[in-house]
Amino acid sequence: MKQICILELFLLFFFKNIWSCKSLKSVNLSVPIAVRAGHSVTLECDYDLEGAPLYSVKWYYGDSEFYRYVPKEEPPTRVFPLRGMHVDVSGSNARNVTLLTVGRQLSGIFKCEVSADAPLFHTEIRSAKMVVAVVPNGAPVVRVDKSKLEQGGPLIAECTAPPAYPAPNLTWFVNDQKVPGSTSTSIRIDKDLLETATGKLELTGAGGTWVLVRLKCEASVFRLYRASSIEVSVKPESPKPQPASILLMESTSNGCCSTTNRQDHLYLCIVLCLTVMVLVRQQMIVS
Ligand SMILES: *[C@@H]1O[C@H](CO)[C@@H](O)[C@H](O)[C@H]1NC(C)=O
Ligand SMILES: *[C@@H]1O[C@H](CO)[C@@H](O)[C@H](O)[C@H]1NC(C)=O
Ligand SMILES: *[C@@H]1O[C@H](CO)[C@@H](O)[C@H](O)[C@H]1NC(C)=O
Repeated sequence: MKQICILELFLLFFFKNIWSCKSLKSVNLSVPIAVRAGHSVTLECDYDLEGAPLYSVKWYYGDSEFYRYVPKEEPPTRVFPLRGMHVDVSGSNARNVTLLTVGRQLSGIFKCEVSADAPLFHTEIRSAKMVVAVVPNGAPVVRVDKSKLEQGGPLIAECTAPPAYPAPNLTWFVNDQKVPGSTSTSIRIDKDLLETATGKLELTGAGGTWVLVRLKCEASVFRLYRASSIEVSVKPESPKPQPASILLMESTSNGCCSTTNRQDHLYLCIVLCLTVMVLVRQQMIVS
């Protein structure tokens, strides 16, 4: 009796190794990278048992099982309650599981575990990440700061996308040309845990050499959302013609002894001298 058991075990391991090369060669889990919050989603776990009978398909969110399909059981489907998870049994079967009105808290790792039946019980598991996204309500907005431009400083522009989850990717376009590389983006998280992305663009060396710059910003959340800001045209203001008096005052206050300054002093001196001479002459006549 004992010997038979050992023999059986030996055969089991022997064949299991041979069989494992054959069965469950491929298990493919397809889960969308991102889905909109509130929508339904069908996750698919495809497998090829190469003729071996199926024992079970188990689905996990993180480490918690939420759905199981066992063809030998009646009914073959079983749903395990999980907070925020609504399995549509009518849309679920041996390969697919359909989730209704997914919430943002269901962002995470989904796993599918396929097991072949006795005597081998060969098991394969696959996992994939899914993000439940909240897309921005509206388009991004561009704000331009021209204050530094007049002193030859950079043109600074900011692009802000409406709150979303996760924070949208921002792309800048200058005169219809995509700005390469990643520009600096800061993310603010509000109390609803939505993320507001603000991208900053600095165009250095823009002062003087350019005529007009057209700026646009595009925000995207995976393939679920893509929107462009209104195009903003920035024109450098031509230097304002300033009154001469102000110019003079400025040069005096600067303490800069310019040639015009010296000439002014000279004129003043001549005028004073002439006045004194005239006054002296008059005094002499009177006396
Ligand atoms: C899984 O994907 C691979 C590669 O795309 C493919 O060759 C294989 O046939 C797929 N298996 C199943 C069971 O769909
Ligand atoms: C699973 O769902 C996909 C579409 O999401 C569909 O093409 C496929 O036929 C379904 N498979 C089964 C076994 O229902
Ligand atoms: C942002 O872009 C990166 C790189 O293309 C991509 O991997 C990521 O998924 C994108 N994120 C969003 C929220 O669209």
